[in-house]
Amino acid sequence: MKAVNLLELEDLARERLPQGPFDFIAGGAEDEVTLRANREAFQRIQLRPRVLVDVSTVDPSTEVLGQRIELPVLLAPVALQRLAHDEGELASARAAEAAGTVFTLSTVSTCTIEQVAEAAGGPKWFQLYPIRSKEGTARLIERAKAAGYTAVCVTADVPWLGRREADIRNHLQFAPDIVPANLLDEIRLADLASGPRGPAGGAAAGLADPGLDWEDIDWIRSIASPLPVLVKGILTAEDATLAVAHGVDSIVVSNHGGRQLDGAPASIEALPEVVAAVDGRAEVLLDSGVRRGTDVVKALALGAKAVFIGRPYIWGLAIDGEAGVQAVLSMLRAEIELAMALAGCPSVADIDRSRVRLGPATE
Ligand SMILES: Cc1cc2nc3c(=O)[nH]c(=O)nc-3n(C[C@H](O)[C@H](O)[C@H](O)COP(=O)(O)O)c2cc1C
Repeated sequence: MKAVNLLELEDLARERLPQGPFDFIAGGAEDEVTLRANREAFQRIQLRPRVLVDVSTVDPSTEVLGQRIELPVLLAPVALQRLAHDEGELASARAAEAAGTVFTLSTVSTCTIEQVAEAAGGPKWFQLYPIRSKEGTARLIERAKAAGYTAVCVTADVPWLGRREADIRNHLQFAPDIVPANLLDEIRLADLASGPRGPAGGAAAGLADPGLDWEDIDWIRSIASPLPVLVKGILTAEDATLAVAHGVDSIVVSNHGGRQLDGAPASIEALPEVVAAVDGRAEVLLDSGVRRGTDVVKALALGAKAVFIGRPYIWGLAIDGEAGVQAVLSMLRAEIELAMALAGCPSVADIDRSRVRLGPATE
């Protein structure tokens, strides 16, 4: 692969993809203030390196929800991956397995829960968009459990879909073979109940439940049990406290890669208040704007157990399928190891709060 770092992938992928799918993946909501803030906020944080520490070997492996992973980076749930490559989620899940990390499958995937389980033996989590039908939501969770997924990650920041203006400008429409494969049965059932709802994508959007609240999290936990439940899309201490009160095992500090509420804070800026509110009672993960090994070290120093990447691996998928996603994870792993070595942290346990200084704007 020609890219030297993850930031260069976007331009390489632009050459491979039609404008509609490219903009759908790259874009953020409205003025894209939050999308840009995700990068800028990482750049304001300084690392405080320690020297004369033996870094002859550096080990970036860690554990999330009891699962050992070879690097503190997981693949985030990203919808409709066959837009990027014919093998879609199958290729991404295989690449995660090869790198020794977790693949998180979106509810809105183009390969089914079962196909992905069949294709890749590594650890897999299922991202849940609860749908309007409780029976349908329960069916999705049961399918993930039966197929061997080991956690359920409920995405909480899409009660309504963010306004991504590039998609509106492009009159974005997906090819007929780009379908939300897990939801086809649910769409058929919903159609039987309420008449036709147009193309599959639109019908899937119509299935999402804007009425979701904390009581539903209790219910989801009861169905998902014994699997751990994560809530993704938390940006405040108040919601982190509620998540803990509702027995959530892990919180994902995320603004959905700047695709939902424009003007929401960068995830890395929201991380300290969430970590303080959680106070060790749940694991805290983070995504949105992670592009460098130093970003990963900064997030870990501020209390994240690990981070997810979204767009970078989708660019790798578009450029070179499974090998492209593997290359992205290898590049990031090499950067993490280097950052750990230069910061004087031979293991992930050494990356503590003393290794970062927040910029003048925040401290
Ligand atoms: C094209 C695209 C589709 C996405 N689809 C989903 C999804 O189906 N479910 C979900 O929880 N998050 C989804 N996300 C958000 C990602 O899980 C993640 O929060 C975000 O991409 C992280 O930011 P990053 O792209 O800057 O790494 C999507 C993101 C992108 C770019």
